Amino acid sequence: MFKGVLFDLDGVITDTAEYHYRAWKKLGEEIGITIDRTFNEQLKGVSREDSLSRMLAYGHKENEFSEEEFSAMAARKNEYYVEMIQEITPEDVYPGILTLLKELKSHNVKISLASASKNGPFLLNKMAIEPYFDAIADPASVAKGKPAPDIFLLAASKVGVEIKDCIGVEDAKAGIQAIQASGALPIGVGRKEDLGTDISLVSETSQLSFDYLVEQWMQANH
Ligand code: BG6
Ligand code: MG
Repeated sequence: MFKGVLFDLDGVITDTAEYHYRAWKKLGEEIGITIDRTFNEQLKGVSREDSLSRMLAYGHKENEFSEEEFSAMAARKNEYYVEMIQEITPEDVYPGILTLLKELKSHNVKISLASASKNGPFLLNKMAIEPYFDAIADPASVAKGKPAPDIFLLAASKVGVEIKDCIGVEDAKAGIQAIQASGALPIGVGRKEDLGTDISLVSETSQLSFDYLVEQWMQANH
């Protein structure tokens, strides 16, 4: 049986993936790059700096800015985003997530955060679910962001569970790739068009019950 669940945050625990998108879109408009939701799939799960690089490349402006300007733009996007998340409350936790956290706790399964976001601790606090987490992997302390496995490996080691005994939950393609590279079992939240057909997928977080996780684990590990 699995011993740990490694959670992505944005788009899995709450709807902040939408705010990341709006903040990037706003920054993009200021620098003459128009992004849409299709392109945004490529930003999901990806670090702030890597997201900005991808957006500049998408707008063919990757050589137009100095390092200082690049940092200033990344900081500006974060300001927009941080402003948007100030009003987040426990009611913003996605359906089914709180029940799942409680079920995992009652079965002594370790819970660890594997988010690329430096705003993760602030958000867990706002949603009052920080006490359920046994650990938070700090994205600033890993060498490579998603799709590299680093943050999931760190999240597992911080709760003292072997990665092969973990499930990872993700809404982003880069995140699913990171879980697959880590050796944990991926469960996706989203559409097969975005996340692929080779993994267990739910369309809504309300489907993420403890029993569902057990079922997927049994199927994958016979
Ligand atoms: C991920 C989001 O969780 O965190 C990305 O899916 C975001 O969209 C990344 O770019 C980094 O977040 P932050 O809050 O540190 O800029
Ligand atoms: Mg996400």
